[in-house]
Amino acid sequence: GKVGVLFGGRSAEREVSIMSGTGVLAALSSRGIDAHAFDPALRSLAELADEGFDRVFIALHGRFGEDGSLQGALEQLGIPYTGSGVMTSAVGMDKIATKMIWIVRGLPTPKYAILDDDTDLARVALDLGLPLIVKPPLEGSTIGITKVGAASQMQAAYRLAATFDEVVLAEEFVSGREFTVAVLGRGKTARALPIVEIVAPQGNYDYQNKYFTDDTKYFCPADLDPATAGEMERIAVEAYRALGCEGWGRVDVLLRAADNAPFLLEVNTSPGMTSHSLVPMAARAVGIGYEALCVEILASARL
Ligand code: DAL
Ligand code: MG
Repeated sequence: GKVGVLFGGRSAEREVSIMSGTGVLAALSSRGIDAHAFDPALRSLAELADEGFDRVFIALHGRFGEDGSLQGALEQLGIPYTGSGVMTSAVGMDKIATKMIWIVRGLPTPKYAILDDDTDLARVALDLGLPLIVKPPLEGSTIGITKVGAASQMQAAYRLAATFDEVVLAEEFVSGREFTVAVLGRGKTARALPIVEIVAPQGNYDYQNKYFTDDTKYFCPADLDPATAGEMERIAVEAYRALGCEGWGRVDVLLRAADNAPFLLEVNTSPGMTSHSLVPMAARAVGIGYEALCVEILASARL
């Protein structure tokens, strides 16, 4: 049947999505799949139904693609799609809602505060300690994030994040090593791929260092003792299942230097599939090439 590869979109991560989707489209096509690009920013979703796609691969990131709204439209149209369902996509897009679920499940995530125009920012800096991280809870790819080193920077950091989202997330800074864990499957069949360690210049894994420089180093499988690696994989899979993720996803984890304790940062329910992206890297470590990975993700498409 005919497969739609959805990429582009209207979020701040449009550029990233175009890189992801171009790769996915080429991979599926080279495997003989009748795959076609569809950019929801350029065409109305009503046209999706007219295309006669019998399933779609979602390679959109951020709002209107990863946040459940598109998933809802596809449910209504009856078109099976890759990745998580409506509620999981919506919750997973929101770093605050995600943390709340993880906390209720007893999973470790950095201490946080929710900021709005009435928040006493100096108080938050005292409560969480400095440095701390300020981020728009609904964005991806590090967009709008500030590492705040002094209370005097809180206001500017808040203002920047507030240009993206109505409420803003402040998080305790966990000093240590940065990892990500790709997960495939759903429910009891969910399984982790080898852990990737990310070593960015000056510890700054920002938009440029994610996609455009070659200055970030990646290690996969990560150099971790078996007990630490096993524990990290276990909590990543638990975190994925706690949110009801399906198909595929990527859970970002910090390992605190002081005591090797892992902290869950966020889940990406429609992770990057660019040439610099980490799910393909993790898959490659177990002998699953980029094309085979795309085929496997597509095979998990459902309603
Ligand atoms: N939000 C980007 C695409 C990622 O997590 O890979
Ligand atoms: Mg993200």
